[in-house]
Parts: sequence; C-alpha cells; structure tokens
Amino acid sequence: MNHIQSYINEHKNRFLNELIKLLKIPSISADSTYKKDVLKTADLIKISLEKAGCDFVEICETNGYPIIYGEKIIGKNLPTILVYGHYDVQPPDPIDLWHSPPFEPVIKKTEAHPDGAIYARGACDDKGQMYMHVKAMEFMTSTNQLPCNVKFMIEGEEEIGSSNLATFVKSNQEKLKNDVILISDTGMIANNVPSITTGLRGLSYVEVEVTGPNRDLHSGLYGGAVANPINILTKMIASLHDEDNHITIPGFYDKVEELSKEEREEMGKAPFSLENYKKALDIDAVYGETGYTTNERNSIRPTLDVNGIWGGYIGEGAKTVIASKAYAKISMRLVPHQDWEDITTLFTNHFESIAPKGVKIKVTPHHGGQGYVTPIDSIGYKAASKAYQDTFGKTPIPQRSGGSIPIVSLFEQELKSKTILMGFGLDSDAIHSPNEHFGVWNYLKGIETIPLFYKYFTELYK
Ligand code: BES
Ligand code: MN
Ligand code: MN
Repeated sequence: MNHIQSYINEHKNRFLNELIKLLKIPSISADSTYKKDVLKTADLIKISLEKAGCDFVEICETNGYPIIYGEKIIGKNLPTILVYGHYDVQPPDPIDLWHSPPFEPVIKKTEAHPDGAIYARGACDDKGQMYMHVKAMEFMTSTNQLPCNVKFMIEGEEEIGSSNLATFVKSNQEKLKNDVILISDTGMIANNVPSITTGLRGLSYVEVEVTGPNRDLHSGLYGGAVANPINILTKMIASLHDEDNHITIPGFYDKVEELSKEEREEMGKAPFSLENYKKALDIDAVYGETGYTTNERNSIRPTLDVNGIWGGYIGEGAKTVIASKAYAKISMRLVPHQDWEDITTLFTNHFESIAPKGVKIKVTPHHGGQGYVTPIDSIGYKAASKAYQDTFGKTPIPQRSGGSIPIVSLFEQELKSKTILMGFGLDSDAIHSPNEHFGVWNYLKGIETIPLFYKYFTELYK
C-alpha cells in the first residue's frame, strides 16, 4: 500500500478528533436512560461510513438497537471482507474511580503508552478499534487502493448479548455473504509483541435467586431456626469449586478439549512475566485451577465466576435482619466444544439439586454463546500475519483469548466463514473497568495494518 504512513501522519489529528467525538456520546446499551445517545451514535457511524467511501449505507432497525450496514462492491470476482464491530459500550460504573469523566475523553501518557492513550469508556472496546476500520477504509478509497469488496456491519448490542444481531444475520445471509470476517475487538500481547487472537471462550451467564422465608425476619427472633438465604447461597456457591479449583458440576468438563503436550508447549512460548502480571494487579499470588499455568487458566480452561452478589441490609450502620431472598449473577466461560445451552442446563440442574430443604431456587439464564477457534493455515490468518509482519516488523504470535464475542461462532454457523481477530488493545487498557483507554500508537498502528490485510487477503485469494 502506497503512502499509508504519510497519509496517517497528515491526518492523525483529525483521526483522533473524530474518535473523540464518537467517544463523547454515552452509548450504553445496558441502560435505557441512554437510548437517545445510542441512537445518535448509530447515526454518526452511518455518516462516517458514507464519508469513508461506502457506496451504500443503511441503518437496519431491529427489535433493539439498530445495526449499521455499509458496503462498497467493486468487482464480482474479487473477494469480500465483512468487517464487524460494535458501537455500544459498557456502563462506566463505579464512576468515582475514574480519574477523568468517562465520556469526556482526554489523552494522557502511561507506562504502556508513552505516546499517550485516549481515556474514555469505549476507547478500546470497541469504538476506537471499530473506527480504525472506518479510517482504513477512508485511506483505501481516497487513494484508490481498495483491492476488494467490503461490507461493514456495526451493531449496538454486543455488550448485552447481540440477540438481535443473531436474528439479523440469520435472515440476511445473502446480503452478508463474504469470504472472511474481520474484527478488531480483542487485544494483543504488547506493542512490541504483536499477536493475533485465534480463540475466544464461550459464555453462559445466569442469575440465581434463593428464597427462604416469605419476608425479612428479625435475626434474633428467627436466627438459627430458619434457612438464611444469604448463608445458603454463599455455601452453595463455595461448593461449586473443589480444593483444586475444579468446577464440581457433574458433566461440566465432559466436552472440554484437552490440548496436547505439544500444543501447550507451543502456547507456553508466548512471552509472559508472572511478576509483572501480579504487580499490575497488586496481588501477591495468582489463583486458579491446579495443573495449569496462568495463561492456560484464562484461555483454554473453562471457569465459573460470581460477577455480583446481593441481598439483605447493605445500608449504613447495622440492621439485624435475615433477608427473605439472596441473589447472584454467575458467568461460566467455556472452551470450544462445550455447548453453552447444555452447560446452562447442567448448572441449573446441579444448583437445584444442592439446595437444602427450606429454600427455593430460581435460575434464570441471561445470555450465552459458543467458543471459537480459528486455524492458522487459512489465507485469512496468513494475510493478517503478513500485514503485522510489515507494520510491526515481527511475525505475530497466535494466541487464544479468555474473552468472548459470542456472535463469532454464529457467523461461522450461518455465514459459513471464518473470522480473523485483529485486535490492537492491551490487557492493561482496562476495558469494562474504570479508566478504560486505548493507545494513540495502537489506534494509528491498527489503521496502518488493516489495509495490508485487505491487500494480502486479495492476493492470496487468487
Ligand atoms: N471485546 C470484548 C471481548 C474481548 C475483549 C475478547 C478482549 C477478547 C479480548 C467484548 O466486547 C465483550 O466484552 N464481551 C463480553 C461478552 C458479551 C456477551 C457481553 C465478555 O467477554 O464478557
Ligand atoms: Mn467488544
Ligand atoms: Mn466489551
């Protein structure tokens, strides 16, 4: 690709300002108070795709937030790349832990980002990474270097489970037909250690409710004589792991793929410092399943975690009370071949079976999705690898991630194409946490690398 670096240099301030404008809108899909903002963001994406050179852009209404579809088709015999991203963001709370307001982006230097990073909710996940594709498109169309067909599908409900996107994909197979799907919504090892994500974990997310007596009770008058739902719930949750931190749900591991010694050795070659890992999190030890390394525990192994737990009195001072109900939100990260609906059923049956007499249990599934793995001998992976080689000067390392983008396996099932996950974020970018940020260097590096993927994919496709 000619002149990509000079193009980026010339336009980088505008590229940053456009992203900042996008980051100022609080497009929080989980909270309906922000409905107008989510819709406003969709409009802005539509305009930006038009400006970037798409010939056709439309806002596709769904039962939830709209999907923006855009395309530029330049040749029947050329391959088609489908770019997916999301414009919705996670809620910013706890808000008081932010050093600057989440929707007032500022650029600050950090240890990992000496050139500065943009601080805002969605900076990395996924507005910044999604917008790299819009700017890469702008570069290719304005310099007459778009080598193939491109389709964009940008949704506004990724952070709440993509259920309307699933319907959209199932009913628009022809429109979304493509040769490869390209997504930047993951991370890489470090700025000097590029990596390409080759796997995502699946997810089953459930909410549990334990009900004891029909009303809150005086903890003196009734304490000791009736089941306390909070005591029971915490006991039940604690029993879900054994002393080796294996999950105790019968059948949970039945379909888990065991990697060969060679594969695990290969994975173990990725640079990783346990000392730095602990230091970055202020912990004196890591914790997890016996027999696996930290990197294995958070990528090739399934997990079960409580994401929130509540019940009883949590206000100021002390109130002596036995609550009638206790609740928890539980996520299970799954690995390829574990079916999320089967796991949800296994969880539900087990959780109901371990409840003592005296309480009632309700398990409500929220959402879920299958895991995903992609081979490294596909032309998509090879094209991505060559692109990174050019812009980072190093061959990227294939690496499985612990995160989930459940829609990716649905893409494979419905559209029959593989996804290439070219993520440019870092684990330290604090996605979903206070002070989320995205390196300016990473943003520009993404814009530089993406057009090369287009080029190499088109060349290898022939
Ligand atoms: N972009 C993330 C997923 C991700 C981040 C994967 C970093 C790999 C590396 C995505 O927006 C996300 O947060 N997914 C959710 C699941 C979703 C159903 C809410 C997740 O992983 O918790
Ligand atoms: Mn994301
Ligand atoms: Mn996310």
